Amino acid sequence: MSDLLAKLYPDHLARLKQRADVALQRGGSDQARCEHLVIAAGTPRYQLFDDRPYPFAVNPHFKHWLPVTKAPGSWLLYTPGKKPKLIYLQPHDYWHVVPDAPAGYWVEHFDIAIIRTPDEARTHLPQDAARCAILGEDNVALDGFAPNNPQGVLNYLHYHRAYKTDYELGMMRVASKLGARAHRAAEAAFRSGASEYDINTAYLNAVHETENELPYSNIIALNQHGAVLHYTDLNRAPPARADSFLIDAGASFHGYAADITRTYASAQAAEFQALVDAVDHAQLGFVEKVQKGKNYSELHVHAHHVLAGILKDQGFIRMSPENAVESGVSSVFYPHGLGHLIGLQVHDVAGFQKDENGGTIPKPAGHPYLRLTRTIEPRMAMTIEPGIYFIDMLLAELKAKPHARDIDWDKVERFRHYGGVRIEDDVVCTDGAPENLTRDAFAGLN
Ligand code: GLY
Ligand code: MN
Ligand code: MN
Repeated sequence: MSDLLAKLYPDHLARLKQRADVALQRGGSDQARCEHLVIAAGTPRYQLFDDRPYPFAVNPHFKHWLPVTKAPGSWLLYTPGKKPKLIYLQPHDYWHVVPDAPAGYWVEHFDIAIIRTPDEARTHLPQDAARCAILGEDNVALDGFAPNNPQGVLNYLHYHRAYKTDYELGMMRVASKLGARAHRAAEAAFRSGASEYDINTAYLNAVHETENELPYSNIIALNQHGAVLHYTDLNRAPPARADSFLIDAGASFHGYAADITRTYASAQAAEFQALVDAVDHAQLGFVEKVQKGKNYSELHVHAHHVLAGILKDQGFIRMSPENAVESGVSSVFYPHGLGHLIGLQVHDVAGFQKDENGGTIPKPAGHPYLRLTRTIEPRMAMTIEPGIYFIDMLLAELKAKPHARDIDWDKVERFRHYGGVRIEDDVVCTDGAPENLTRDAFAGLN
């Protein structure tokens, strides 16, 4: 795999340079012309009144250029027409692990300056900070050299980041494989009667990543816990009966994310299995629509209609799907967005961005939690994650509305125990059929 990535990396880098060239020309309208792009990797942040740092999260712009996620205090300098420079902090430090010496396929593409203290970076950076687009957090500022994050530069880079290079897709395929393998281990733990905590341990052992390395906190939910959309407690004791299992857990590879959800029914829960199967089938239909020129907001609204059809077919509601969507009833059972962009961040940037100059494509009315409104184009990677849930708070609100009479409350009451269903894949738009990174990864395990 690293041979393949090594082959793909030069094109990736060339693409980033091209994007940086244009972004710098656009610069920030209210400042001197940008001649250099400077990216700070970042520096640890500390907990309040404490000397304990939060887990380090590298600046996504930094890991876009090179597969290095653990180099706090380092910087990247790109000047159009010149070889990019990595200013790499390897402190003399016997308290912490010092980042490894740079190694691998990417090293030959950079001039590398090793520094021993964070302040030393200043001598390797351009004199005139006003001529630099400096991307980073405030806390990396050096003497006379602080991040300015020009909006024009960010808009351009963020917008184009949605379009993945072949190298990035290679990274995401690996992340998906790691995640799929760990999902299998988690399913086996569920089937053997394990607690949420022990299922999570099985997942971590299989994915071989620490919790801090994962792209987001695992959701490991048995029974009604599946109704809490971001359930991150991990009960130590198994329930008396585990009839349903919703797992939303990912993996990282060199800072690229996989975001995967599966829902399982126990052998006794045939009625819940039927709902899982219907959502799974519908989800595959939405994946097929990840096609050039389709609008993601429209796909999200289409998903509401299809899921409302499932609710009707399975007897939860007695109204037409159209009526269920228009009245907001479908949003009681499916109260989140169909998905989001994914890549260097699990919820990648610029999901609403109108074009490379900025601007916003609004969400459709009544759909406040949708995270992606852009038109789908080749090389965009996004999640497709429909769900149907039985959420007490939302059901109580519905009970007080006129549409309450169109609901089979006995059936809903029975399904509260199962929590909910979500099926989530990571999908790439191509010029032909969409590439389903997640299903391909699961298939590759067999
Ligand atoms: N795992 C977070 C999400 O699915 O968006
Ligand atoms: Mn997601
Ligand atoms: Mn997810």
